Amino acid sequence: MKTNPTSMIRRSALVLLASATAALLTNCNKGDKAGGGSGDTMRVGFAQAGAESAWRRAETESVKAEAEKRGIDLRFTDAQGKQDKQIAAVRDYIAQGLDGIILAPIVETGWDEVLGEARDAGIPVVLVDRGVSVKDESLYATLIASDFVSEGKMAGEWLVKKSGGSAKIIELEGTPGAAPAIDRKKGFDAVIAGESGMEILASQSGDFNIEKGKEVMEALLAQHADAVTAVYAHNDDMALGAIQALEAAGKKPGTEVTVISIDGGKAALGALVEGKLNCVVECLPLLGPNAFDALEKIKAGEKLEKWQKVDDQLFDAENTTKDFVDKRPY
Ligand code: AHR
Repeated sequence: MKTNPTSMIRRSALVLLASATAALLTNCNKGDKAGGGSGDTMRVGFAQAGAESAWRRAETESVKAEAEKRGIDLRFTDAQGKQDKQIAAVRDYIAQGLDGIILAPIVETGWDEVLGEARDAGIPVVLVDRGVSVKDESLYATLIASDFVSEGKMAGEWLVKKSGGSAKIIELEGTPGAAPAIDRKKGFDAVIAGESGMEILASQSGDFNIEKGKEVMEALLAQHADAVTAVYAHNDDMALGAIQALEAAGKKPGTEVTVISIDGGKAALGALVEGKLNCVVECLPLLGPNAFDALEKIKAGEKLEKWQKVDDQLFDAENTTKDFVDKRPY
């Protein structure tokens, strides 16, 4: 049979077109599947509380880096300390039909409705670092966080021992309504309640950030500079702000005034080695691997513990070296 060269070219072009269309459709289907939450690429939304502290920035980095490592398609929102913004972010992730949501709740209350919407949509919510107070615990899959009450107790017990049970304390609290602010106070108060020589002169929020911590400390020093012997700050940043305020007021942090913080970031541990800070209770921010492990286990049908506790330790001059601080990753 004689072949017509023009029709051969036409036929080859048609074959090429058909395979290109098939490839395109396959890729589109893959994309659709991921969008519907059942494909290979896991799509996850991270509704972060803000960027108020070095701790939180380290947590954000941990989640982003782990998502990249695992090839997870991560959507990120920084709620800038505003709960309405964070709720809107969760709603947006629900509307996108993602495979999972990681939420670091700014405050404990006000989550029932939006978490109910996520559950109705079949999207698991993994809480990281801070817990919520909800009527029904099945509204979230799991909480991965430190025990903040125990952190407060560790700080209180260290101070009682160090001061021989006698201290006049300024307390810098975290963001009002936030789980770590509530629980770190609870734990500390429980310890000093049984100690007649331990007195809290003043207790005020510094909103977990360095500038506010400094500002509040300056104001409180105006009233209590002569009496204060210790500062208990609910996080590193506020402690570092308080150290600046103490120095500006002519006081020697670390010797004249004992300073205690919670978190254990490089800057605070550096101040500890320098002798300006005396005790740091650790709170680990590197929660990215745990959060994605949880989502992958949920996807595989595993039931998770409601609270996966993160272990923390205590740092003071006796167990902290410059070499250790230099190697600290955050
Ligand atoms: O929820 C954890 C706390 O929030 C950290 O102690 C603090 O630094 C952060 O802002």
